[in-house]
Amino acid sequence: MKNPPVNPFRFGALALDESFADREQERRELVSDVRNGQDVVIFAPRRFGKSSLAWSAVQALSAEGVLVAQVDLMTTPSKERLAAALAATIFEQIASPLERVRERALAPFRGLRIQPTVTVDPQDGSFSFSFAIGQEPADVDATLERLLQLPAELGGARNRRTALVIDEFQEVVEIDARLPNLMRAVFQQQPEVAHLYLGSKRHVMERIFNDENEPFWRSAKSIELGTIEPAPFEAFIADRFEATGRTVGAAAVAEVLERTGGHPYATQELCYALWEQTPRGEETSAERLRHALGAVLRSEHAHFSLLWEEASRVQRLVLQALAREPGHPFRSEYRGRHGLPPATNVQKALAALERREIVIGEGGAYRIAEPFLAEWLNAG
Ligand SMILES: Nc1ncnc2c1ncn2[C@@H]1O[C@H](COP(=O)(O)OP(=O)(O)OP(=O)(O)O)[C@@H](O)[C@H]1O
Ligand SMILES: [Mg+2]
Repeated sequence: MKNPPVNPFRFGALALDESFADREQERRELVSDVRNGQDVVIFAPRRFGKSSLAWSAVQALSAEGVLVAQVDLMTTPSKERLAAALAATIFEQIASPLERVRERALAPFRGLRIQPTVTVDPQDGSFSFSFAIGQEPADVDATLERLLQLPAELGGARNRRTALVIDEFQEVVEIDARLPNLMRAVFQQQPEVAHLYLGSKRHVMERIFNDENEPFWRSAKSIELGTIEPAPFEAFIADRFEATGRTVGAAAVAEVLERTGGHPYATQELCYALWEQTPRGEETSAERLRHALGAVLRSEHAHFSLLWEEASRVQRLVLQALAREPGHPFRSEYRGRHGLPPATNVQKALAALERREIVIGEGGAYRIAEPFLAEWLNAG
């Protein structure tokens, strides 16, 4: 007998292939920009699908023969780690595909100021790189600089288009305050290489790209990733249920999307729970959706409790107000309705909540960004 279908919804890991909904236009735009060698920055709050979109574009580009190296700055808290991650991705994604003999792909790394230790995994033959700590800072910088030059040189020598994807780019300033300068100085000299920067923490990303005193000022085209549109998301959800032997009612899909506002992660999370509530061969129901939402809130409880504990008193008041009514917390009617303190205090609390991406403000109107937090607050 065939194995029973497994839950088709995924949250947390990258949304790949069948788990990837819509983003058609953004994907086309991104593929085309990278093909043109255009630098792009993708801004979006946490869990909006930046990495998944980049991954999907990279797959299409690789199929066209573009060589794409990728690093995630969240996993490289020091310059030595960053150098190691760069060396590994350049080796795997750029040097190796250009060399018939894999060992020869190591040649470009022999010219580095600091030599990496290269280890070959006997199991799968994969190579890993590491750089010893405690080296002269100038030597570490020279090594990083050289590594950042390599994609352009290796690709250029063979007439191959190359791209470098840097995920969690907002971390660049945490690794070393001078790192943006060093990177930008190198990238400026490689107009043919497409650099793709992905990042959350809007205030940090904006400072990096929109402040004229910063090295990356206006250096890339920016794409702002929003939520996923209702029509394609509805089709995606219905299709996933159908493909796994269940039916999702139109009312249920509409309610799911109304609750999540098309937030990619939240939608997958709620659909995952709804699917679990729906036996094979059956249809979703309002009752099942209610249980699903309960399950999501229970599983997010620890996360929300921590967030609540870390919030100041005014932040808590503001959160409770926004959970009941998204809107304009600076206005006196709003503050009056929700018993909020003076506008300056509210402003300070909102700024802190925005920095943590718990709240989103657009044109003076604020709402809770963290999916399901409003439900949790209202239920508590
Ligand atoms: N195009 C999409 N279609 C369906 N679900 C998606 C899509 N993009 C993202 N998701 C959902 O959102 C989750 C987070 O996606 P992803 O890791 O790509 O986001 P991110 O913006 O890179 O997040 P982070 O800020 O944590 O790095 C995925 O696990 C998936 O559930
Ligand atoms: Mg990501």
